[in-house]
Amino acid sequence: MSTLFSKIYDPIMRPLEKMRMGNIRERLVSQQEGVILEVGSGTGANFSYYKNAEKVVAIEPDSSMRNQSFPKVKNAHVPVELVDASGEHLPFDDNTFDTAIGTLVLCTIPNPNRALQEIRRVCKPGAPILFLEHVRVDRPLLGRLQDWLTPFWKRLCDGCHLNRRTLDLIKQNGFRVERIDKYYKDIFLAVDARNEK
Ligand SMILES: C[S@@+](CC[C@H](N)C(=O)[O-])C[C@H]1O[C@@H](n2cnc3c(N)ncnc32)[C@H](O)[C@@H]1O
Repeated sequence: MSTLFSKIYDPIMRPLEKMRMGNIRERLVSQQEGVILEVGSGTGANFSYYKNAEKVVAIEPDSSMRNQSFPKVKNAHVPVELVDASGEHLPFDDNTFDTAIGTLVLCTIPNPNRALQEIRRVCKPGAPILFLEHVRVDRPLLGRLQDWLTPFWKRLCDGCHLNRRTLDLIKQNGFRVERIDKYYKDIFLAVDARNEK
């Protein structure tokens, strides 16, 4: 991950966050309780929205992203512990977490299947597993445009795939999907799933 990307991430996202994304994040995380795992927390865009958690353990492998998130750790309403780790290798015991959250992250993780298996392992049975992700859509024109753009986009946005079928991955890895909310012409999905063990 480039230092430049970490520096421009918040300014680029700000208009989106103000329009709708901030509300979607708030709806996703604010009611969650107990000890929460956040995967790929980036610059800490979700931290201010946690209101009821006992504690958030936020893993983020990129040091420049972690550095950008320090002020949001300090200003959060709940304790946030930042951990240098990748989603594919979570340094936690089985059944540690009450909830897992991932936002705009399964698009970037190099091995999303491995990360989803790790999330399953470290979360308690029945735990809410919540994602906000952009996905490849099934509409022919837009879907093909996502395929076409992905090689360039990946280079521009540090590994982000515009055309991942992330909902399929979530289901294939054994999570029970309870609810899906769709945004921005079905490109963004808020997925409320449960950890089936
Ligand atoms: C597009 S940013 C999203 C950041 C944040 N979750 C958000 O909602 O704004 C993608 C994040 O995934 C992180 N990431 C990349 N590879 C990862 C991996 N293997 N495990 C966990 N996070 C990873 C990146 O460092 C980056 O912070």
